[in-house]
Amino acid sequence: MTFVIAIDGPAAAGKGTLSRRIAEQYGFHHLDTGLTYRATAKALMDAGLPLDDEAVAETMAREVDLSGLDRAVLSAHAIGEAASKIAVMPAVRRALVEAQRAFALKEPGTVLDGRDIGTVVCPDAAVKLYVTASPEVRAKRRHDEIIAGGGKADYTAIFEDVKKRDGRDMGRADSPLRPAEDAHLLDTSEMSIEAAFQAAKTLVDAALKEKI
Ligand code: C5P
Repeated sequence: MTFVIAIDGPAAAGKGTLSRRIAEQYGFHHLDTGLTYRATAKALMDAGLPLDDEAVAETMAREVDLSGLDRAVLSAHAIGEAASKIAVMPAVRRALVEAQRAFALKEPGTVLDGRDIGTVVCPDAAVKLYVTASPEVRAKRRHDEIIAGGGKADYTAIFEDVKKRDGRDMGRADSPLRPAEDAHLLDTSEMSIEAAFQAAKTLVDAALKEKI
């Protein structure tokens, strides 16, 4: 059986960077599942289709190609907002979860990050991490990222946005964002990404040892 690492948490908690580093460390395949929701939303927007028609959104979700997902193309704020709107639709989630589960089977192992990996997509994952940080810290990180990239950013607007996105992700009826009961919590508010990586590595090494 393949070795699955499930990493969940709210927007801008650092789970993307952490997931990539873990995948690299163990030579595992990585899927940022947020991109599957973003790609579905972008396809709808590009085609001029509504974001509130579940059947149309499901059709788009079933056409998403997991091998062609690129965060650079999908990073726009409007795409993230649209993604969190279609992510409340059960038919869209069913379609994307099916594709994510198929990806999770790749050998020798996989790292999937998102909102519902440990709870819904891969409940039998060998290691589950729930990466979080205070809304203030997450907003500041997002703000600094935009500034570092040469863009313009308003901290207060970003902070409000982080809280709004949290509310939508944690409050939806289907697969709300929450830690799995057996997830290890990693609060990165006052932890560097290197420290978070070392903590995660200790957990993964222990689980790998157990598997042999
Ligand atoms: O992680 P990212 O910000 O790219 O995700 C965009 C949106 O997709 C999230 O706000 C969330 O609503 C949705 N999502 C989800 N389940 C996942 C990953 C993302 O509902 N596993």
